[in-house]
Amino acid sequence: MNRRLHGSRLAGSTARAEGLARLDRVTNSTRNDSRRHTAVVGLQWGDEGKGKVVDLLTAQHDVIVRYNGGANAGHTVVVEGERYALHLIPSGILNPKKRNIIGNGVVVDPEKLLEEIDKLRARGVHVETNLQVSDRAHVVMPYHKEQDAALEEFLLGVASNERGSFAIGTTRRGIGPAYADKVNRSTAIRMGDLLDHDYLRDRLRVICRLRSAELKALGVAAPPLDPDALAARFFELGQTLRPHITDTVYALHDAIKADQSILFEGANACLLDIDHGTYPYVTSSNCSTLGIPSGTGVPGHHLGRILGIMKAYSSRVGAGPFPTEQLNETGNLIRERGREYGTTTGRPRRTGWLDLVAVKYSVMVCGATGIACTLFDVLAGFEELKICTAYRLADGSVVDRFFPDARLLAQATPVYKTFRGWTEELREVTDRKSLPINAETYLAFIEEHLGIPIEMVGVGPDRNQTLVNA
Ligand code: GDP
Ligand code: IMO
Ligand code: MG
Repeated sequence: MNRRLHGSRLAGSTARAEGLARLDRVTNSTRNDSRRHTAVVGLQWGDEGKGKVVDLLTAQHDVIVRYNGGANAGHTVVVEGERYALHLIPSGILNPKKRNIIGNGVVVDPEKLLEEIDKLRARGVHVETNLQVSDRAHVVMPYHKEQDAALEEFLLGVASNERGSFAIGTTRRGIGPAYADKVNRSTAIRMGDLLDHDYLRDRLRVICRLRSAELKALGVAAPPLDPDALAARFFELGQTLRPHITDTVYALHDAIKADQSILFEGANACLLDIDHGTYPYVTSSNCSTLGIPSGTGVPGHHLGRILGIMKAYSSRVGAGPFPTEQLNETGNLIRERGREYGTTTGRPRRTGWLDLVAVKYSVMVCGATGIACTLFDVLAGFEELKICTAYRLADGSVVDRFFPDARLLAQATPVYKTFRGWTEELREVTDRKSLPINAETYLAFIEEHLGIPIEMVGVGPDRNQTLVNA
């Protein structure tokens, strides 16, 4: 045998073995790394209690990052009876030792952000450079809010047939128009642009000509927009926010390299996702976990634990199909017991039974590894409870698949499984083993049906009213 060849073969196999060992180490470190990071995502139509869960998980993480949405979100955190409503700032802000990031996928209304910062500071919450905002996050401008409202009013005014109007029932926070400008590119403003007065003014001079014409066409009787005044106002806002504005993609990757753990906070919810929700009655961002990589710059393989947040029943704000909606005493009772009124708009929320066809779909799309079942205390006192496990279609067939399309979902009638209720109030319960047997049966059925564990059960709005690792 040719010695040199044999030698090089040996050297080759040693190199290969070393290469494989190195790959193994890298893979394992990625696996270990992914276990440290957590995503919190809504599995229904929003308001599942994400804020409370993020606040609770903040202690176990170093950095909390919002990846989507804007001031359409309203996340409530209750600490020792004190209630905080967060719209743009991550719910980790109440812990002064943690860093909070508004990622590039968020659309930021600078005036609302400053208002939120001021309100928190006035209550003694530390908001300094522990809050970072992506220089690439897009700005919600005043005309976006006007466009949002004008389009909704226009659509409400042309409701002409039995379908009613095509209005979405938005929060009117300018979310859709701001994301539309992001996609348009030529008419967009990013947070980093607020720091360059002349660039901002020049862009606004073009944008305002277009916007004034569009608003007039939508019937808004306001005077034309003044680009120079707007540039001056938003440059000033940029100066105030300057200490917070940075490249958050590098900030997040630096944190990962420094062995810190990230908590990704979803706003809105999977069924409102622009691609995977009940289109067109959705919001304008990817609110499912699929929005995390694009909305933060952190690739998906870093995600290990994905906690899906699910109310023990269902609610929805705004228009769109809702198969298990209860337009009756049951719905009213859920609304009153759950205090189901919007955190952002104060609108009464539509309420109904738990829809596990919908939740199972969200678990699939988001890759949820566990569930936090919130507002479980609200269900006490009902003689019986229902859970939707399938849909009956117009032709009589029964399916267990969700329809992420409003027109198709509107044709689905829920097929229910009925459960016995319980009378005991749950707010004082401290562990799952102490739950009434009928309450435990309800939870066990959900776990069985979804195929993933319920890791937390909410029995009240306060941080402490949570059964953890149940
Ligand atoms: P988010 O948008 O997902 O953060 O949820 P919201 O804050 O908009 O709405 C959830 C509401 O339920 C808030 O008023 C919370 O304080 C409240 N809440 C959260 N978890 C529980 C719970 O387990 N029980 C009760 N009764 N209220 C809860
Ligand atoms: P959180 O984060 C509930 C709904 C609106 C409307 C639709 C589009 O608090 O769970 P938009 O203003 O985004 O264009 O409105 O989406 N919506 C929410 N509903 N909770 C939310 O956020 C929501 N964010 C948007 O009611 O039907
Ligand atoms: Mg909310």
